[in-house]
Amino acid sequence: MNRTQCEFATLTIGKKTLKFPIVKGTAGPDVIDIRSLYRDGRVFTYDPGYTSTAACDSHITFIDGEGGKLLYRGYPIEQLAKASHFLEVCYLLLYGDLPNRDELDDFETRVTRHTMVHEQMHNLYRGFRRDAHPMAVVCGVVGALSAFYHDSTDVNDPEQREIASIRMIAKIPTIAAMAYKYSIGQPFVYPRNDHDYASNFLQMCFSVPAEPYQVNPVLSRAMDRIFLLHADHEQNASTSTVRLAGSSAANPFACIAAGIACLWGPAHGGANQACLETLKEIGTVDRIPEYIRRARDRSDPFRLMGFGHRVYKNFDPRAQVIKESADEVLDYLGTGDNEILRIAKELERIALQDDYFVKKKLYPNVDFYSGIILEALGFPTAMFTPIFALSRTVGWIAQWKEMLADPVQKIGRPRQRYLGETQRDYVRIADRR
Ligand code: CMC
Repeated sequence: MNRTQCEFATLTIGKKTLKFPIVKGTAGPDVIDIRSLYRDGRVFTYDPGYTSTAACDSHITFIDGEGGKLLYRGYPIEQLAKASHFLEVCYLLLYGDLPNRDELDDFETRVTRHTMVHEQMHNLYRGFRRDAHPMAVVCGVVGALSAFYHDSTDVNDPEQREIASIRMIAKIPTIAAMAYKYSIGQPFVYPRNDHDYASNFLQMCFSVPAEPYQVNPVLSRAMDRIFLLHADHEQNASTSTVRLAGSSAANPFACIAAGIACLWGPAHGGANQACLETLKEIGTVDRIPEYIRRARDRSDPFRLMGFGHRVYKNFDPRAQVIKESADEVLDYLGTGDNEILRIAKELERIALQDDYFVKKKLYPNVDFYSGIILEALGFPTAMFTPIFALSRTVGWIAQWKEMLADPVQKIGRPRQRYLGETQRDYVRIADRR
């Protein structure tokens, strides 16, 4: 921790008064450094869900949840979505600054040279059931990369860390596309290194060997924007999972597989699939009030997917950008009067005025519109979360590398408040009632 120390927080426990430095970041709330709390006070803090806990220092992504602001390495997401593209943003997240022309060319070459997967991995896919969820397949295959690329699993070697990082960014579109092709019984399509990152992914998903395939630039731009908007999001559940897995010096492929597993949940990355399914279930605009009623009802576990966020208590800035993309794509495809989009817009309008949503600051998040675009691009709902995983891989890697380079990094080991039985003696089975 090299932040400027400004003042101290004091805590009185019984007769003891403890002092903790309050340290500042470059933006965001100050942080009370409580590392000496247990040593000096013999108590733990209790913070399920880490709502008040900063678990690390980071230089990568900043979110101002009240202001609805998201910065990658200081650059607003809206500017990057408008003027940059995914691979440039990957460079920015990984290395801290925007690349010059040579740096970008070199980075793009390095990534495109690693897009193929080991041919033996085709057999790995064939071990899965065809009806497996592609997220299960992607999680398994990414974990299995460590069985194929032994020369990049030593986390103490910076060169191996770099190769593993490039490999994962390069291969994850191939892995996700193969999961899709396998699920529909079509042959795997090899990557094309003369295509940009997003176009290559689209051609691996939608082309077939039997006929030529032209990538549509409007759709490829929308795909790239989805990748870019999901590329990183500071210490969310899956990123924290990657950091925690990495803190034990687990190999990079295993760490990213752990992140993918965590992302799958419907409260996190799985929300994009759940959101589109809900929009379809609503079916017509006149049924929206019924679903708003259910979301408001505390006795009903139903939640309106695509609304609410732990950090954003204002519009998710990614949702604003993605909404424009949804309009562009549907207009281009001539499906601008799409019923699902109409339901989504009306639902958003009603929710933004509804006192329950207003009071709880539940705004549309990134997942609210992404599913509409992905469906328009031709993806089945089961592919939505693998596409989120593909996009987030670079963020996980940037955070994992940052963690390993941090001198204060330790194995993650939370403590607990124990509420179980206190010590008791074993009773033989014959003597138990
Ligand atoms: N619909 C209805 N009520 C909601 C919703 C929702 N989508 N989200 C939160 N609430 C209510 C919740 O019931 C609670 O009410 P009360 O105070 O009366 O108990 C209050 O708002 C606070 O909710 P919370 O669950 O304590 O808040 P959280 O910060 O733990 O959860 C969240 C954040 C994203 C898990 C939650 O808002 C949610 O489940 N949303 C739907 C799933 C979703 O869209 N997830 C994608 C998040 S963005 C992409 C990503 O990061 O993966």
